[in-house]
Amino acid sequence: MLPSSLLLLVSLGAGLVQSKHTLDDLYLENAPSSPRPYVIPHYANSHAVTIGSQLYRFTVTGPSSGHAFTLMSTNAPASGSLGVLPHIHRAHYENFFAFKGRFQLWAQKDKKEQQARLLTQGDYGSVVRNTTHTFQILDPDTEMVGVIVPGGFEDLFYNLGTNYTSRTDTPYVPKATNGSAATGPSGSGISSLQKFDVYAQLDFQPRRDLVNGTAPVFSSEWHTDANTLGAPGEPYFVANGYGPKYLNSQHGYQIVQPLVTPKQAQDTNYTLSTISISRQTKTHAPSWTLAGAAAFEVLEGVLSIQIDDYPVARLNMGDVAFIPARVPFSYYSEVAFTKVLYVSGGTKGVDQQLVQRGKSWDFVTFPTS
Ligand SMILES: *[C@@H]1O[C@H](CO)[C@@H](O)[C@H](O)[C@H]1NC(C)=O
Ligand SMILES: *[C@@H]1O[C@H](CO)[C@@H](O)[C@H](O)[C@H]1NC(C)=O
Ligand SMILES: *[C@@H]1O[C@H](CO)[C@@H](O)[C@H](O)[C@H]1NC(C)=O
Ligand SMILES: *[C@@H]1O[C@H](CO)[C@@H](O)[C@H](O)[C@H]1NC(C)=O
Ligand SMILES: *[C@@H]1O[C@H](CO)[C@@H](O)[C@H](O)[C@H]1NC(C)=O
Repeated sequence: MLPSSLLLLVSLGAGLVQSKHTLDDLYLENAPSSPRPYVIPHYANSHAVTIGSQLYRFTVTGPSSGHAFTLMSTNAPASGSLGVLPHIHRAHYENFFAFKGRFQLWAQKDKKEQQARLLTQGDYGSVVRNTTHTFQILDPDTEMVGVIVPGGFEDLFYNLGTNYTSRTDTPYVPKATNGSAATGPSGSGISSLQKFDVYAQLDFQPRRDLVNGTAPVFSSEWHTDANTLGAPGEPYFVANGYGPKYLNSQHGYQIVQPLVTPKQAQDTNYTLSTISISRQTKTHAPSWTLAGAAAFEVLEGVLSIQIDDYPVARLNMGDVAFIPARVPFSYYSEVAFTKVLYVSGGTKGVDQQLVQRGKSWDFVTFPTS
């Protein structure tokens, strides 16, 4: 039997071994191979690959999220041609979010009229399963953020792309393009990608008759009036600030702008929203523990987030935090206005809970008092 003083030493030693995680432990360059809490700064390697002039990064992957969702970004120069040949995903629900710059997005489901929109910062396009879609990047400093459900779709890009690293974390490779910058796989290439859930639609003719950023012109509201979220199974678009809004006043003010609710997600079992957060102190930030995985990507301001027993991380624009299912966390803003893109695996995430305990709200800004 050990003398009690030695026992005390042993237990103290165990306490030291279990010492708290550091911020360095939380910050990663690449999404991990199984779920754990992490933060990836904007433009970190994130399993980057280049496809032509486009640079793709994957901050949340199938393996890192337990296959809940993929969160990715595409940085690319303006192009005179489509960024990818038109195609369908049968099993994956794809979301396009304009982080900065401009791109055009086309979507057509079945024999319904083809839709096209010009997306600027904060605009959103919902490409439900079995929608023919394609895009074109229009400005030099453009970043598209993509959310694809279920997770794992990044395997397509790993297959098509060339691994990329840089010492400067430059958003994309500065390189003269010759005007016809053919990006993405060729016609025969894209036809061989069905094992990645990519079904080429080579007969699709992208319409070019947009007026004021939209086609058709007269049956669509685009940066002019309210956008509603689509009926289940239909693609739709939401201009920045024109979608549904909810104000939650439980812990400071938070404005939730849902982009995908359980109704649109159907059996894909996720939700997507932006959340705008007013200034709040750490002591008033509630602790959340969710049944599903969650990710935050900062769009504006600074997000403070404390995950499990890690120290508080302060995330800037473009930084991503991932929280596995059933891991406690709290978040708040120490600046006046922080806006995030929030992805929830499962339909009972922070966004839906804030909406349920909030009220319908007509504005993108908080009350004055
Ligand atoms: C590319 O990177 C991945 C990890 O992201 C690695 O598994 C793979 O082997 C790399 N491929 C090449 C050709 O270096
Ligand atoms: C998509 O289309 C395929 C092939 O027609 C079909 O098997 C599948 O059920 C469709 N998926 C959805 C979600 O409608
Ligand atoms: C332009 O770039 C494309 C894609 O890299 C290439 O196929 C084509 O030959 C180039 N054209 C000229 C004139 O350099
Ligand atoms: C396009 O926008 C301008 C400026 O708001 C407006 O005057 C014009 O009527 C719009 N055109 C169409 C076809 O809606
Ligand atoms: C939806 O996701 C949540 C969170 O991961 C999970 O608890 C739930 O069982 C899932 N529901 C279905 C129907 O798959």
